[in-house]
Amino acid sequence: VAQTDMFTTCGRSSNTNRRRHGHGVTASYGEMCYHDNSLVSASLEALIQHLVPTVDYYPDRSYVFTFLLSSRLFLHPYELMTRVCHLCVEQQRSGDPWGVFQIRFREVAPKLVQLLTEWTETFPYDFRDERMMRCLKDMTHHVARGEEYSWRAMQQMTQRLIKRLSALGQYEEAVSALNAVAMERPASLKSKQASGQRSDVMSACDDPFVLAQQLTHIELDRLSFIGPEEFIQTFARKDPLENHKGFFRKRKTSNLEAYVNWFNRLSYLVATEICMPVKKKHRARIIEFFIDVAQECFNIGNFNSLMAIITGMNMSPVARLRKTWSKVNTDKFEILEHQMDPSSNFSNYRTALRGATQRSETAHSSQEKIVIPFFSLLIKDIYFLNEGCASSLTNGHINFEKLWELAKQVSEFLVWRQVICPFDRDRRILQYLVTTPVFSEDELHLASYESEGPENNMEKDSRRSLRSSLLHRENRS
Ligand SMILES: *[C@@H]1O[C@H](CO)[C@@H](O)[C@H](O)[C@H]1NC(C)=O
Repeated sequence: VAQTDMFTTCGRSSNTNRRRHGHGVTASYGEMCYHDNSLVSASLEALIQHLVPTVDYYPDRSYVFTFLLSSRLFLHPYELMTRVCHLCVEQQRSGDPWGVFQIRFREVAPKLVQLLTEWTETFPYDFRDERMMRCLKDMTHHVARGEEYSWRAMQQMTQRLIKRLSALGQYEEAVSALNAVAMERPASLKSKQASGQRSDVMSACDDPFVLAQQLTHIELDRLSFIGPEEFIQTFARKDPLENHKGFFRKRKTSNLEAYVNWFNRLSYLVATEICMPVKKKHRARIIEFFIDVAQECFNIGNFNSLMAIITGMNMSPVARLRKTWSKVNTDKFEILEHQMDPSSNFSNYRTALRGATQRSETAHSSQEKIVIPFFSLLIKDIYFLNEGCASSLTNGHINFEKLWELAKQVSEFLVWRQVICPFDRDRRILQYLVTTPVFSEDELHLASYESEGPENNMEKDSRRSLRSSLLHRENRS
């Protein structure tokens, strides 16, 4: 430890030293600590200052991403934006005559535009806050006085942003409409009895490879709408941001949650499809089909669907169907389960994920580029990274090493998110996957007992109480 300390240097931000025209203000920007040329900690003030472009300075891209991503742990994006814009303008003023200020502002304006462009493109959802939009408009007016080129760039940026946000609004409406359809006709026990008529997954699609492709479409669609800040926003729950009214609060992590809901839905869909058929032979065929789908998901690099399918198969209403499972060749399934085995911190999966990531990096086709991580684990890793490490040091500095690490994990996700899904879309299959009704947990248990009767008294009791509560509910509706 003593040795590494030798390489740690603390000093004033180079940014503050550069400010030749400053008079007395430099001291308030605090200090920044570097280790091997990498920023390890600094005061919040210094970090904000470090983001502000000047005539001869522009922050490096990884810093911009990292700080825009994580600063929300400490202050609201709106506050950050106001301060950055204010500093950027005021620093050019520095007591000089108006004419000199204007010339210098004209020089810095393109850099401010560049910073705001990076912001709007990487974190567009920040601008669902009206105050952010207003600030952007104000800056457009400001820039307009300086220079035609920057003004045009601001206009274009704003248009792209509005387009992006409206696509997001449409996506959110579509997802909630689909969810409403899926809820509208809750899978009732009657459909279990009438399952001769109910269409099952294999009548929608009996080719495991095609089904895995359609699952991959859904995964990538939903991933593409998750904002990088949603990972961090989940930790900012307890902070004063919660008091803000308006768009921002409502929408903070909704796309991330919608994606997690999709995982749960897929697990329940798999379990429902297996528990539904009356005939054992039919149930066994569905299990084998899903094993093949899971295998195809693995081959594609779609670990999230793979894990959802395994989870569905391991739910107790499915796992208890001993007679059905005895008809299934489980060799392939055991290999897949081994890949996703949680022991040793999911080491098998992590190895497979690294393999897929390497393949993706050297890929020639978009199919080889696909990496869809097991999302709950990604969230858990980020969560523990946040929990296991303080954001602020005892001297009040922000622990920037932690922020680098958070940004590394989130930017990996951004690379995966970018992939264009190369497979043909099949609307009918997609529709089936996202809207077909699925059993609730209780309904699954009861359907499972209807398929293979209770094996002991506990199961008998359980069936009796499920019957009375579920049938009661059905009669009421
Ligand atoms: C599990 O592995 C990940 C990735 O290597 C790591 O970030 C995390 O801290 C590990 N968790 C535990 C509990 O060891």
